[in-house]
Amino acid sequence: MYSKLSAPILLASACSAALYESVSQLPGFAYDFVVVGGGTGGAVIANRLTENPSISVLVLEAGVSNQGATNIEVPLLAPFASPQTAYDWNYTVVPQPGLDGRTPAYPRGFVLGGSSSTNYLTYTRGSRDDYDRYAAISGDEGWSWDALQPYIKRNERFTPPADGHNTTGQFLPSAHGYSGINAVTLPGYPTAIDHLVVNATQEFGDEFPFNLDMNAGDVVGIGWTQETILNGARSSAATSYLGDSFIHRPNLHVLLHAHATQVFPDANAKSGKQIAFNTVEFAENRQTRYNVTAKKEIVLSAGSFNTPQLLMLSGIGNKTALASLGIPTLLDLPSVGQNMSDHPLVANPFVVSGTQTSDSIFENSTRLAADIQAWNSSYPHEGPLVDGLTTLLGWLRLPENDPIFETYPDPSAGPHSSHYELIFANGFAMPGSASPSTGNYMTIFSNVISPIARGSVTLNSTDPFTQPLIDPALLAHPFDTYVVVSAIKAARRFATASAFKGYITGPYEAWANATTDDEIAEYARSTGNSVWHAVGTACMSPKGAEWGVVDPDLKIKGAQGLRVVDASVIPIVPNAHTQAPVYIFAERAADFIKKSWKI
Ligand SMILES: Cc1cc2nc3c(=O)[nH]c(=O)nc-3n(C[C@H](O)[C@H](O)[C@H](O)COP(=O)(O)OP(=O)(O)OC[C@H]3O[C@@H](n4cnc5c(N)ncnc54)[C@H](O)[C@@H]3O)c2cc1C
Ligand SMILES: *[C@@H]1O[C@H](CO)[C@@H](O)[C@H](O)[C@H]1NC(C)=O
Ligand SMILES: *[C@@H]1O[C@H](CO)[C@@H](O)[C@H](O)[C@H]1NC(C)=O
Ligand SMILES: *[C@@H]1O[C@H](CO)[C@@H](O)[C@H](O)[C@H]1NC(C)=O
Ligand SMILES: *[C@@H]1O[C@H](CO)[C@@H](O)[C@H](O)[C@H]1NC(C)=O
Ligand SMILES: *[C@@H]1O[C@H](CO)[C@@H](O)[C@H](O)[C@H]1NC(C)=O
Ligand SMILES: *[C@@H]1O[C@H](CO)[C@@H](O)[C@H](O)[C@H]1NC(C)=O
Ligand SMILES: *[C@@H]1O[C@H](CO)[C@@H](O)[C@H](O)[C@H]1NC(C)=O
Ligand SMILES: *[C@@H]1O[C@H](CO)[C@@H](O)[C@H](O)[C@H]1NC(C)=O
Ligand SMILES: *[C@@H]1O[C@H](CO)[C@@H](O)[C@H](O)[C@H]1NC(C)=O
Ligand SMILES: *[C@@H]1O[C@H](CO)[C@@H](O)[C@H](O)[C@H]1NC(C)=O
Repeated sequence: MYSKLSAPILLASACSAALYESVSQLPGFAYDFVVVGGGTGGAVIANRLTENPSISVLVLEAGVSNQGATNIEVPLLAPFASPQTAYDWNYTVVPQPGLDGRTPAYPRGFVLGGSSSTNYLTYTRGSRDDYDRYAAISGDEGWSWDALQPYIKRNERFTPPADGHNTTGQFLPSAHGYSGINAVTLPGYPTAIDHLVVNATQEFGDEFPFNLDMNAGDVVGIGWTQETILNGARSSAATSYLGDSFIHRPNLHVLLHAHATQVFPDANAKSGKQIAFNTVEFAENRQTRYNVTAKKEIVLSAGSFNTPQLLMLSGIGNKTALASLGIPTLLDLPSVGQNMSDHPLVANPFVVSGTQTSDSIFENSTRLAADIQAWNSSYPHEGPLVDGLTTLLGWLRLPENDPIFETYPDPSAGPHSSHYELIFANGFAMPGSASPSTGNYMTIFSNVISPIARGSVTLNSTDPFTQPLIDPALLAHPFDTYVVVSAIKAARRFATASAFKGYITGPYEAWANATTDDEIAEYARSTGNSVWHAVGTACMSPKGAEWGVVDPDLKIKGAQGLRVVDASVIPIVPNAHTQAPVYIFAERAADFIKKSWKI
């Protein structure tokens, strides 16, 4: 079905590198596929479609190159890659009533690889129940856990940890893929708290059981963190799917600094029941605008905030809301930007007696420089910088007979799923707050995993270069606040394990005094944040449903030639940090596209 002529014409003038910094280098303005956003989802689509050499793909990436960015490459430095850096969109959220009206930063990667280049590297797929629920919501059994296994494996390349230690007892080998594209590994440098946490799971096995592998379908329990790291350096969508082995394909073109501003229907298409889209307008460095044509499809992979923004700017959204901004409606889809779910996070720092914590690195510039030097001069990389912030984390349920369930039905995805998460960090970490300049700490994060609140993304302006209004609705529902209070109390109980005796000195400052439930809730409201897992803003729903934005094949309802492949399509936030779910969705989406064009 594809045109055999299209690709060669383009390629005649292509230079060897397919990564372009400027429109002037671009060999043409017509491609089979145009992918908006070279992030987590977009990179998978670009890679898989260009496996066929006769198919041409252009990726428009608004952000900058990922090359040579120390804070992106070095895992422990991830917290310095954003927010408010050259690699960030610099977004903030609207005032959050659940957070005392505060407006925290909400980072998103403005760089090739998208948020997979700036995230905190944990690799978590979610639970069996999450995917079975997506199958039920969408009416497509293909989204179930069992059916997705081949796509999970296609993404994953499980590799030895940086220090090559014996990983027996730290994961379930049969649950993993070893020949996929994106590298995954276990922690590669021992931290001071690893064995304390593991021992505490033995002491408190009933409430806080050890989970050998949270990526094997049942997340419940505490286990070793798997991370998107290869030989001690970040494995992102940019270094894997768009890495050296693929970026030189002559049919793959990636243009940086190219900000898509609108999609347009095909002016020559015969008017039918569906609107056929084929044009993407973009601006280079937010200045000169150009149009590119997609002969087959446009794939939107701009992420949970920018994809709905681009849809609305293009006249796809709630008709009434668009009219109030003077945007003519092409497709009246009121679910665009609605139904956002996210994970609210609260940091619980403890003062510790040990000195082998990340604080000793970050508080001492001599030590930090020496550790970066040691990391840089070794391969596989060595030293304490080879891991992200957390080497252990866990997913836990409220008790079955918790009185809260008399008021609200249980919103968790099922028995293999959690209500909250505990994340263990060997040092001080509190998003939005500066770290103390002295001292040693351990932080346990309490995250709400089964929120009832739903947020939204709406347009503030028709200017594509301003941010949309982002409302993640953090702690905006009484159930969500109840869960976070329960999770903070759980963190405190866990810290009483005998393994921590002599190590933990006490809770750090503000939350030391928060003892009643009301005080703990106020601590959560005054220090809480997001852990940046927003999904659902271009939600999939059954074909023909009255709500939703995309069909189960991720095509925009009522349109031709326009698909969404990123976190926006995921209906409900999973029992996971969201990069692996996006990779998994994108691997299946690539198959949809290949099948529908027989390529
Ligand atoms: C700081 C941080 C930490 C996180 N930590 C973790 C973690 O440890 N583990 C985990 O699993 N998940 C984590 N996440 C979440 C996870 O990284 C994201 O959910 C996931 O990467 C989103 O993938 P995506 O494809 O939807 O969007 P992205 O990967 O963000 O890709 C969107 C891309 O589109 C580009 N773009 C946007 N608008 C336009 C436009 N108009 N024109 C052209 N290009 C455009 C962007 O620049 C970006 O490259 C974290 C996220 C953040 C921000
Ligand atoms: C975010 O801010 C940084 C530093 O101020 C800047 O370099 C970067 O370009 C900004 N990002 C965007 C998308 O404008
Ligand atoms: C790793 O440890 C396990 C159990 O402790 C042991 O059975 C196995 O032989 C070890 N593997 C290697 C390669 O040493
Ligand atoms: C963990 O527990 C084991 C056995 O119960 C004990 O031998 C070991 O010293 C403990 N380790 C730590 C760091 O507490
Ligand atoms: C792109 O095409 C659309 C629709 O044909 C048109 O309205 C718009 O002005 C074009 N933009 C550029 C930069 O040519
Ligand atoms: C569309 O937006 C309007 C105005 O914001 C709102 O009142 C209405 O409920 C929305 N429609 C739907 C179907 O969500
Ligand atoms: C939000 O999603 C639920 C299913 O999870 C659906 O029933 C509801 O209609 C959606 N709401 C909107 C506004 O899209
Ligand atoms: C800072 O680090 C250097 C190098 O590791 C070390 O020699 C020095 O003692 C450290 N300073 C402090 C105050 O810990
Ligand atoms: C790593 O070493 C190379 C030279 O081998 C140098 O160019 C680069 O700047 C170093 N990076 C860091 C983060 O020190
Ligand atoms: C929304 O637009 C108004 C008016 O231009 C502006 O003052 C405000 O800062 C914008 N809000 C955000 C969150 O960007
Ligand atoms: C905690 O309470 C004590 C005693 O009331 C007080 O002295 C201290 O300042 C409080 N700490 C914080 C961080 O609020």
